[in-house]
Amino acid sequence: MNSAPRETTLATSPKLSDKAALFTESVIREMTRLALHHGAVNLSQGFPDFPAPEEIKRAAKEAIDRDINQYAITWGAKTFRDAIAYKFESSQGLAVDPEREITVCCGSTEAMMASMLAIINPGDEVVVFEPFYENYGPDAILSGATPRFVKLRPPDWSFDRKELAAAFGPNTKAIIVNTPNNPTGKVFERAELEEIRELCTKWNAFAITDEIYEHMLYDGAQHISLATLDGMRERTITVNALSKTYSVTGWRIGWAIAPPDVTAAIRKVHDFLTVGPAAPLQEAGAVALRFPKEYYEGLAKDYLVRRDRLLAILGAAGFDCMEPRGAYYIMTDISRFGFPDDVAFAKYLVKEIGVAAVPGSSFYRNPVDGRTHLRFTFCKREKTFQAAAERLAKLKPAVAQS
Ligand SMILES: Cc1ncc(COP(=O)(O)O)c(C=O)c1O
Repeated sequence: MNSAPRETTLATSPKLSDKAALFTESVIREMTRLALHHGAVNLSQGFPDFPAPEEIKRAAKEAIDRDINQYAITWGAKTFRDAIAYKFESSQGLAVDPEREITVCCGSTEAMMASMLAIINPGDEVVVFEPFYENYGPDAILSGATPRFVKLRPPDWSFDRKELAAAFGPNTKAIIVNTPNNPTGKVFERAELEEIRELCTKWNAFAITDEIYEHMLYDGAQHISLATLDGMRERTITVNALSKTYSVTGWRIGWAIAPPDVTAAIRKVHDFLTVGPAAPLQEAGAVALRFPKEYYEGLAKDYLVRRDRLLAILGAAGFDCMEPRGAYYIMTDISRFGFPDDVAFAKYLVKEIGVAAVPGSSFYRNPVDGRTHLRFTFCKREKTFQAAAERLAKLKPAVAQS
């Protein structure tokens, strides 16, 4: 094989993007690769290992058979946009115009990226709660925004009002709010959203809300869309997707709901990023978004059982768990295991014990802040929990300190 020495290749290669050098590969997706490599039970990446609903799968197959196989309208098939508007109004009571206020994207990942690219100018700042879903860091870098982090503090993951107010200023273009929240399981309360509203209004900033876990709620928690608060509809971009609610993370179907002028900018960016997601899957999405309310009630009930199952498994293995009120993750405190940091412990777990989780540091700008945390997901079937429980039982006598 004719392979040049690495140094020679680098020295003579054209220079790569400075932006791309500023962030690393996704740690979460890396943990999934490690889980596969070591044959570990994967409780790291948030994708269900149980089947998607029959109706949505059938609708996708029918759409292909009906030959809905060419490009949809770039900002989304009309049937799907109508269904998104129907669903948003029926769950949040807010009527939106599917012709002018919705952009269908490749997952909420693209919806977030297209939204950021549509609103950010050089010098703009974006307020991000920390710990944060790891995509928001690279989203800020790629769109050219400077992130301003505000801490959510355990055990209830509340924020300090003064710290939030200090993060806003004349350069603030937007705040990103993820509720229900990954990785903490926090569900933002109305009073907290009102604080955010006051600051967005004061500084004339947008809010971009990631509501992908809207139906995973426990212990009476209620999801409130920021766009429904007085004065927020005209400055909120609501991002959501089929991925989690309908257990189809691999379909890559999401959307952004925003006022018409903002939507016009998002649609332009989106068109040149991806043109749009799979047309037949949008048709299937239109069926899913019209599922009766019993579907969402059943989903929340099932996830409550899964949450309690994983809380019990982790508790028995010696983890200190922070009980989530929403989404499908459990943040744990790993201090008592005596490892130097979260990455060392995550590697030990995946290689030696056979369970994959995500190191807490991947949710913080400064890795030290996540050093004592590990995140586990519970979007898994009983067989997976059983296997995880058996493997984690080995952990206690081996390394846990009494
Ligand atoms: C908060 C949050 N937003 C977005 C995503 C990605 O969503 P999608 O699959 O729709 O791109 C995830 C996936 O884990 C997530 O946790």
